[in-house]
Amino acid sequence: MRRIKNVLVTGGAGFIGSNLINYLFYQTDFAGRIINVDKLTYAGNLNNLKEIESDYKSKRYFFEKVDICDFKNIKKIFEHYEIDTVIHLAAESHVDRSILGPAEFIQTNIIGTFNLLEIVRGFWKGKEDVLFHHVSTDEVYGSLGTDGYFSEETAYDPRSPYSASKASSDHLVMAYYHTYNLPVTVSNCSNNYGPRQYGEKLIPFIISRMLENKEIPVYGDGKNIRDWLYVDDHSSAIWRIINQGKVGETYNIGGDTELENIKLVKMVCRIFAEKVNEDVQKYESLISFVKDRPGHDRRYAINCNKIKRELVWKQKTTLMDGLRDTLKWYINNNDFIVRLKNNQFEDWVKENYQSR
Ligand code: NAD
Ligand code: TYD
Repeated sequence: MRRIKNVLVTGGAGFIGSNLINYLFYQTDFAGRIINVDKLTYAGNLNNLKEIESDYKSKRYFFEKVDICDFKNIKKIFEHYEIDTVIHLAAESHVDRSILGPAEFIQTNIIGTFNLLEIVRGFWKGKEDVLFHHVSTDEVYGSLGTDGYFSEETAYDPRSPYSASKASSDHLVMAYYHTYNLPVTVSNCSNNYGPRQYGEKLIPFIISRMLENKEIPVYGDGKNIRDWLYVDDHSSAIWRIINQGKVGETYNIGGDTELENIKLVKMVCRIFAEKVNEDVQKYESLISFVKDRPGHDRRYAINCNKIKRELVWKQKTTLMDGLRDTLKWYINNNDFIVRLKNNQFEDWVKENYQSR
């Protein structure tokens, strides 16, 4: 086991980052400090860390509003907090936004990652028990046909500006391992769901549409397949890698839960109807098939036997239980639901994903 004292989490105010920080403080015996570095883009929300702030702020939890591309200030943070472990999540993360405007994706996901790598390469010279863990996506592997799975050996074949930027950052991380012996690990995970996810992603988006009695847009024929993982199971996998992962290795993480989008949407409608005591028909009738996403990957499915076998990890939450908890959380945290606003991205969504 590595000795872990001062953990820098990048993107800790976002969906996975905030769930991870909550998980580390409340569900593990981690006794060190967490330094959350987040630029607070539209996707970052400090409300995600309310309990942490009141329980641990300035004792074991510290927040720094800094852009990961800002070399000088990130370097200062490494020196000030004597960072020994990085869990790098900060990214632009929404595929549709990357289609509308890829520039931010290139900047944060590629240049930002490069910046962090350059800083740790200098700062960790001669130090032991240090690790840079890079959190990535299964989307770097491209799209599958009706059978087969992504494994750690699958060749990269990204097809959206988002996945291409993540693929590029994965390559940089591995290049620093091979070239400079930087201690790194990488994980490639499937679609996460759970509390605190920004409202533009499929599951919170469906919930917001049901709450507002508005059309639920399903792209294309609705038969695209994603593998779904409850966010706490992703956190437990990341923590397992940080503690026991082998330096220089990549680990795939998945839910073993492949589902067509339309089936998932109907499942969410059914659970929501149960929770609010209404007829499911009221919500299913909101479903509308709309024009397809450009370059829409058909199927993702992940083989995560390596992390199961080598690090003895497994998922704990079934899709049904996870969705029930997620819906309950959103219904109780109604203020979290992000409603369509009149901005460039929302206008683009309306224009591009019209009913057929
Ligand atoms: P998110 O969009 O909810 O959060 C991203 C966070 O990063 C936000 O808090 C944002 O403010 C911050 N950020 C963005 N640019 C920054 C910058 N330049 N400097 C500092 N902070 C910045 O994303 P998420 O869904 O939590 O994803 C986190 C990571 O996990 C990403 O790297 C993503 O590629 C990866 N991932 C996500 C999923 C998923 O299903 N959501 C699946 C696999 C991997
Ligand atoms: P999303 O949550 O954007 O994740 P990703 O594109 O990274 O997999 O979308 C999940 C799936 O749902 C994807 O196949 C696109 C589809 N989708 C819809 O059909 N309608 C929607 O309104 C959204 C946001 C996504």
